[in-house]
Amino acid sequence: MKDIQFKRHRRLRRTESIRALVRETYLRTEDLIYPIFVVEGEKIKNPVASMPGVHQVSLDYLTEEMEELVNLGIKSVIVFGVPAEKDDVGSQAYHEEGIVQRAIRQIKEEVPSLAVIADTCLCQFTDHGHCGIVRDGDIANDESLTYITKTAVTQAEAGADVIAPSNMMDGFVAAIRRGLDEAGYSHIPVMSYAVKYASSFYGPFRDAAHSSPQFGDRRAYQMDPSNRLEALREAESDVEEGADFLIVKPALSYLDIIREVKDRFHLPLVAYNVSGEYSMIKAAAQNGWVNEEEIVLEKLTSMKRAGADLIITYFAKDAAKWLNQ
Ligand code: PBG
Repeated sequence: MKDIQFKRHRRLRRTESIRALVRETYLRTEDLIYPIFVVEGEKIKNPVASMPGVHQVSLDYLTEEMEELVNLGIKSVIVFGVPAEKDDVGSQAYHEEGIVQRAIRQIKEEVPSLAVIADTCLCQFTDHGHCGIVRDGDIANDESLTYITKTAVTQAEAGADVIAPSNMMDGFVAAIRRGLDEAGYSHIPVMSYAVKYASSFYGPFRDAAHSSPQFGDRRAYQMDPSNRLEALREAESDVEEGADFLIVKPALSYLDIIREVKDRFHLPLVAYNVSGEYSMIKAAAQNGWVNEEEIVLEKLTSMKRAGADLIITYFAKDAAKWLNQ
């Protein structure tokens, strides 16, 4: 029988030192953005049942939480607020003394080295739980932009370093950019949730943020998971409107989209490793079915390999500990 020619790929895998020489993708603690949930009240550190290891914290515990992040080498947080009161226009979202605005001010005063990213949405603040203003059972796009822009401006006034709008109204980047510029915040970047699918992977977050829609669902504004070209159109319009970062969300079932967006647009790209992706691994790990450390690092690395520059993840603290070992 004639000799078959073949390649010896295993030469480059023979020892750990050789594998390290040819490693293509690195996960760094600096790539990780940690989401925090702040609540009104005092001495509150409420575990979120569906997200083991994640808590809602009141402001008196916030500084120590933030110091822990800095000590681990994490450089940024994204702040989600859980207000005590909700109404039909989400007025606590843009109140100067809203929970998010107070949290931002406190972090910038007490732990100034952290970059503070403000999630800009109405759903935690509206009594109907939708991300915009409801008119005749529908989410009124252009009217919602007014409230969302006010929210972004008050977050910038409070000291947010980055504004991250997640509401999926059309034109939110343009509206927020204009609002920030007019208010004197032309130096504050917009990290747009440009590509956000209507995903069941957000289930546990809605427990954590008390933001479930009280009627209907979000499919009239978030994207259909079946669609790929639509993701590119969304990203394209946000780039044109002045976004400084693009987010693709969720991450794990959408690695193909991360790659396509990365290949076409030249902005820093953020993957949002969402709550359901977190909870599934936590549950499996608690049952002893998977090795948590290995699986989390593999998963986060795969997001970077797909093209993400940064990752918003509830695993940030765990991953930082493992990476620092
Ligand atoms: C709010 C918002 C959501 C998430 C981030 N911002 C929920 C939603 O759209 O229902 C989900 C985050 C996660 O699941 O981790 N607009």
